Amino acid sequence: MEQSDKERAQTERLENDYEVARSPTIQKITNKVCGCGYIGSSWTTQSEAEKLLKYLKLDENDTLLEIGAGAGWPGLYLAKQSGCHVTLLDIPVTGLEIAKKRAKDDLMSDRVCALSGNAANLPFQVPTFSAVSHSDVLCCLIKKQEVLKECRRVIHSSGLMAFTVISIQPDLSDRERKQAIQVSPDFVETEVDYLTMFENTGWGSISYEDITEEFQRSCQLMMLAEQEQEEGLRALKGDIEFEEGKVAWELKLKAFSKGLLRRELFVVKPI
Ligand SMILES: C[S@@+](CC[C@H](N)C(=O)[O-])C[C@H]1O[C@@H](n2cnc3c(N)ncnc32)[C@H](O)[C@@H]1O
Repeated sequence: MEQSDKERAQTERLENDYEVARSPTIQKITNKVCGCGYIGSSWTTQSEAEKLLKYLKLDENDTLLEIGAGAGWPGLYLAKQSGCHVTLLDIPVTGLEIAKKRAKDDLMSDRVCALSGNAANLPFQVPTFSAVSHSDVLCCLIKKQEVLKECRRVIHSSGLMAFTVISIQPDLSDRERKQAIQVSPDFVETEVDYLTMFENTGWGSISYEDITEEFQRSCQLMMLAEQEQEEGLRALKGDIEFEEGKVAWELKLKAFSKGLLRRELFVVKPI
C-alpha cells in the first residue's frame, strides 16, 4: 500500500529509532517506561500491559494480533504471560528483527510470527484472530478508520480488541490546539472522535479508562532517564539532537500542565 510522503518520513525515522534502540543507553531510557526489559516506543507501562492481559482475557488458546508492534512491546509480553500465539505486524522491519530475536531468546519463537505490513490493508483473508491490541498506534497513522475496519474484518465475532491512543483534548482554542499538536505523535488529529469511529467501523465500546495521568508520569520518568543518560545520549545522537530533545520535553510538560493532551485505553468488541 502506497504511503504518503509524511508517512514514509515517519517510517524512515522509526527504522532509525529502532536501530538506535539496540543501544544499552536507549534501552535504559525506554525501560523506565515499560519497566520490564522490553524495547518500547509507546508509553505503555507494565501495569497497562497487565490491564491489556486482563481486558483481553488471553490464554494459550488465543491468537493475538498486535498491530504497530514495533520491537515487540507489549505483544511479546502478552504472549509470554498468557501462553497465546501472537502475530506482530508493523511497517519498519528493524523493530520486527529485534522482536524476533527476543522471541528466540525467550524460547517462544514457535508462538510468534512477525510480519512487515500495513494495518490499513491486513494480509489475512478470513477472520483469524481472537484478540487484537495496539499501543499508541492510531495516533501514528492517517487512515484510522481503515485500520479499525481491517481489525474488525480479521477478528472472530466473539473476539476483543484493546488499545491505547493519544489524542488532543476537545474544545481547545486554536492556539492551544497548535501547542498540543506540536508535542504529539505525527498523526494525532482526528476528523471525528473515537466513539464515532467505532460506530462507523463495526465496533462497540465495552470499557474505557482515561490514562492521561499515567502518561504524564511516564513522560516525567523518561525525561529524568534522559538526563541521567546525558553522556551516552550525546555520544549517540550528537549535541544538537540532545538539546532539541530537552526543549521538546519542556514543551510537552507545559502542554500537560495546561491539560492539552489525553491518553485513553479502549476495549471494544465486534457488533
Ligand atoms: C508508538 S509506536 C508503538 C510501537 C510498539 N508497539 C511499542 O509499544 O513500543 C507506533 C507504531 O505504529 C506503527 N505504524 C504506524 N502506521 C502503521 C501502519 N499503517 N501499519 C502498521 N503499523 C503502523 C509504527 O511503525 C510504530 O512502530
